[in-house]
Amino acid sequence: MNRIPEPLQRVREYERERAIRLNADERPLFHLTPLVGWMNDPNGFCFYQGQYHLFYQYHPFSRRWGPMHWGHAVSSDLLHWTYLPCALAPDTEADAGGCFSGSAVEMPDGRLMLCYTGVQPASTFRRETQAQCIAVGDGTDFEKSLLNPVVRHAHLPQGYNEFDFRDPHIWLEKDGTYRMVVANLHEERKGAIVLLESRDGLDWRFTGEIDASCGEYGRMWECPDFFELDGSQVLLVSPQEMHAREEFHAGFGTVAILGVFDEKDCRFERKYIQPVDHGLNYYASQTVAAPDGRRIMIGWMDNWETCKEAPRRHPWYGQMSVPRELFIRGNRLCQRPVREIESLWQDSVIHERVSVRESVSLEGVQGRLMDMTVELYPEGSSCRRFTLHVARDANHYVQIRCDLARGELVFDRSHGGSRRDIAHTRHVPAEVQDGKLTLRLLMDKESVELFVNDGERVITSLIPTPPEADQITFAADAAITLSVKAHHLK
Ligand code: FRU
Repeated sequence: MNRIPEPLQRVREYERERAIRLNADERPLFHLTPLVGWMNDPNGFCFYQGQYHLFYQYHPFSRRWGPMHWGHAVSSDLLHWTYLPCALAPDTEADAGGCFSGSAVEMPDGRLMLCYTGVQPASTFRRETQAQCIAVGDGTDFEKSLLNPVVRHAHLPQGYNEFDFRDPHIWLEKDGTYRMVVANLHEERKGAIVLLESRDGLDWRFTGEIDASCGEYGRMWECPDFFELDGSQVLLVSPQEMHAREEFHAGFGTVAILGVFDEKDCRFERKYIQPVDHGLNYYASQTVAAPDGRRIMIGWMDNWETCKEAPRRHPWYGQMSVPRELFIRGNRLCQRPVREIESLWQDSVIHERVSVRESVSLEGVQGRLMDMTVELYPEGSSCRRFTLHVARDANHYVQIRCDLARGELVFDRSHGGSRRDIAHTRHVPAEVQDGKLTLRLLMDKESVELFVNDGERVITSLIPTPPEADQITFAADAAITLSVKAHHLK
């Protein structure tokens, strides 16, 4: 490894000075936040030399987005993270405007290759442009290739542009070929995901287009990921500027496309399309193949609309979602919190088959650090509406309403303490299945992740509710039987 470039050294010194002043109590318990400053997308999520590595879009010098760096943390259980020094700073000609999102892959010689978007700043006569860059290292220090950017717009056929060309996702095939999918804004097909391949990670060749929005599911697609799961091929993308339709909400979304991939012709046949997360705060997901075979996804617990108005209460801003195990059931991509979360359980409280009507709290079920599963059994009851309030006190609550007759659930944080006129509710289908409706809630201080019917639908949301608001109540319009398992988290 050559000398650490000076700009990166300065960032690392700044991190050392500032980080010691940050109090761990001021952070969520198990959601990753930036070491200092600002965080957005997860980057380079990988398992390398016995640990999970997670990099992130990072602006160490403020709690707002700025010239992008890569922050870095490692973990052996995906819940307790240790910070490593900043991995990339915008310090070369190829990335002077920022090191945007990307991915990581272990090379056959054991080194780690990072692949990211280098932004070249605008000048008087040129708009800002984007191209893909490589940096190789030992898991802590990375050396940027002198050939950067290794993938330019000139690698692509006509119709693709050089202004919106970002977020490479790289992997290594069994035969030793590197492949990457990367997003581009095509002049006709709009958000397009192209595939390239290379023998050495430096010399790349365009091999085809996987899929495109064609203006239907958003305009530009960002942050692609592409992998096989349970016999299906899955393409994950984060579209900008979606129109609301079917289950998709307007604005920044996350989409999973399930289909069949014919490698020879580089043809991906789209079969099913669905939102990945229905929440108010979730974007830019990325996955890792765990050594035990699980496919684990993490996302930025925010989005570009919500982050603008969000309060800056802590010395840092931005957090990741809980890492989630992916699986396919029926034709849907489903998700559960990683099973490692069970190691945080303490003081578990179980209420089996209790009957609930007027707003009640249940003994021992209170708090803002909790993994709680509620099972509703509507059979034999005339209950049409069940309501769960969390993060509650005299002035605040976050409400989850289940309309059992319509098979719909509403997540509503309007009374959660926000002073902003932004979206606070989401509606999702939530049907009773085999006699029950299951809601699993993960609460970590300022966030709620709600898994409906064993991960069939997920709603991820930040809540600005004061930490003292920690009551949980259950109410129904007619007596209904339910079971609650509440695990406090340590
Ligand atoms: C997605 C995104 C990426 C880009 C990065 C910049 O949230 O817009 O497309 O690489 O953020 O920080």
